[in-house]
Amino acid sequence: MTDESTNDLETLAARARESVDACTSLAAIEELKVEFFGKKGAITALLKTLGSLAPDARREAGARVNAVRDEIGALVAARQAELDREELERRLAAGRVDVTQPGRGQQPGGLHPITRVRRRIESLFRNAGFSVEEGPEVEDDWHNFEALNIPANHPARAMHDTFYFPDGRLLRTHTSPVQVRAMLRDKPPLRMIMPGRVYRCDSDMTHTPMFHQVEGLVVDEGVSFAHLKSVLHHFVERFFERRLGIRFRPSYFPFTEPSAEVDIECVFCSGKGCRVCKGTGWLEVAGCGMVHPNVLGNVGIDPERYTGYAFGMGIERLAMLRYNVNDIRMYFDNDLRFLRQFG
Ligand code: FA5
Ligand code: MG
Repeated sequence: MTDESTNDLETLAARARESVDACTSLAAIEELKVEFFGKKGAITALLKTLGSLAPDARREAGARVNAVRDEIGALVAARQAELDREELERRLAAGRVDVTQPGRGQQPGGLHPITRVRRRIESLFRNAGFSVEEGPEVEDDWHNFEALNIPANHPARAMHDTFYFPDGRLLRTHTSPVQVRAMLRDKPPLRMIMPGRVYRCDSDMTHTPMFHQVEGLVVDEGVSFAHLKSVLHHFVERFFERRLGIRFRPSYFPFTEPSAEVDIECVFCSGKGCRVCKGTGWLEVAGCGMVHPNVLGNVGIDPERYTGYAFGMGIERLAMLRYNVNDIRMYFDNDLRFLRQFG
């Protein structure tokens, strides 16, 4: 090694020692490592020059450069450890936990009122010996209409305001197609309810485009309209836990004969007539009737031997009456001030 390069090495070592001492941050340490040990670093550059020396000179010079490299390396590592420790202490001091602070508290979640009502309905019917079934929300024309005695162009289709998919399938407009699926799969005796979401292009104080129905179906020998009335009367009594007027109003559904709609006394005006009940004093909560013989025929059940009743209740309507909610749309606004009342 020449005198000149020996001097270079000494200068370099001195400069490195100073730089290490001057480092006050971990970032500065990183920069320093690059400056000396990086690909284009000063020590790296010195090591590269060794190749051009004669073997003896190379051995001697190599040992000296390595010694400087190791010394600086150790200094850097020590400084880094020091700075790491300082940094940790700073963080611990800043993040000190104040154990005297009061806790943040917990906000327990709750079931949506519609879910609560749905579960309540399910449990009341389970106790009465009904099973609980479900069906798909995307239906085809046959299950939603055709099999239920509603052929194409039947005026009843206009009552349904159906959402269609481009391929002709549709969002079910009621839970009645689940009846069809159940009767195709199982044979009488049948005794079940079928809750779920249904969809109609409809919106006002008592209508939303998505709502929930609970279908009921009982098929056996000797089932009569009296059984239907009795089951619904008992259900309403238990569901509301108070005396509310109930009436069966003759109506029409293509899939039941005879048919009725079930009205409950309006709780907002006690039957006097108001905006919610549109002045009638009653709120419609269900449609029902005796399963039409054509429907039984469509699903391969002998209408000469079996009879059945069916009903379809609106869960939101029952929830409105039970919780005194005068606008059905509040159930779907997701306003926490509203929802927390049911927690
Ligand atoms: C039906 O959907 C028949 N499938 C019911 C049925 C089943 C009759 C079995 C006979 C045998 P309707 O369209 O009336 O009927 O709806 C039934 C109930 O759903 C209504 O009484 C009402 O409580 C509720 N309902 C109807 N439309 C809406 C809506 N847009 N928003 C909220 N609830 C609704
Ligand atoms: Mg109706």
